[in-house]
Amino acid sequence: MNEQYFDIARTELQEGAKDAGHPFHFFTLATTGINQVPRLRTVVLRKVSKDLTLTIFTDKRSRKVTHIKEHNKVCVLFYHPEKLLQLKIDGVAYMESDQKKLQKIWDSMDAPKKKDYLTAKEPGTKISHLEQIEYLDTSQHFSVMHIEPYKIEYLKLKRPNHIRVQYSLTDGNKWESSFLVP
Ligand SMILES: Cc1cc2nc3c(=O)[nH]c(=O)nc-3n(C[C@H](O)[C@H](O)[C@H](O)COP(=O)(O)O)c2cc1C
Repeated sequence: MNEQYFDIARTELQEGAKDAGHPFHFFTLATTGINQVPRLRTVVLRKVSKDLTLTIFTDKRSRKVTHIKEHNKVCVLFYHPEKLLQLKIDGVAYMESDQKKLQKIWDSMDAPKKKDYLTAKEPGTKISHLEQIEYLDTSQHFSVMHIEPYKIEYLKLKRPNHIRVQYSLTDGNKWESSFLVP
């Protein structure tokens, strides 16, 4: 396997999780919605584990959670505008089920952050005024989604030749690489 670009991808992802100013701190998560319609949204990269599992926080009533229960394959996109680097990752998404872990994360969050998961009505509900949002005092809607990658495509625009490498996870849980025509 070509380690060079894999290592760069991993380092950039880890920086993205740690540093709110890093372009990989935010990424686009695509799910498959009702009637197989693609749905995209921006999310915050909270954690990258050693095996490159990506973690986000979300409201368990949100559409993305409903989508992955029906169809757990997702695609995510990261873009670094200064380095002209794009990472496209295919993965399997699942929700964290360990209540102790969820409680620990919840307890570590400050009040403004918690507010994102406290709306009385579920996210996406129509309201007539912006002031019409009510908040609850409960952690019950807070949830954590993990995305376990099985394919990573690295693309760096560069002269004279762009670099495009695809990494695929084999049945033996090893990453294999191929260079692709950019
Ligand atoms: C900068 C930015 C960061 C966001 N981060 C998150 C996030 O980490 N988790 C999340 O659930 N939604 C986040 N959102 C909101 C989502 O983009 C989306 O609107 C919301 O989660 C509802 O998506 P859904 O109905 O498709 O599930 C963020 C939006 C913006 C603009």
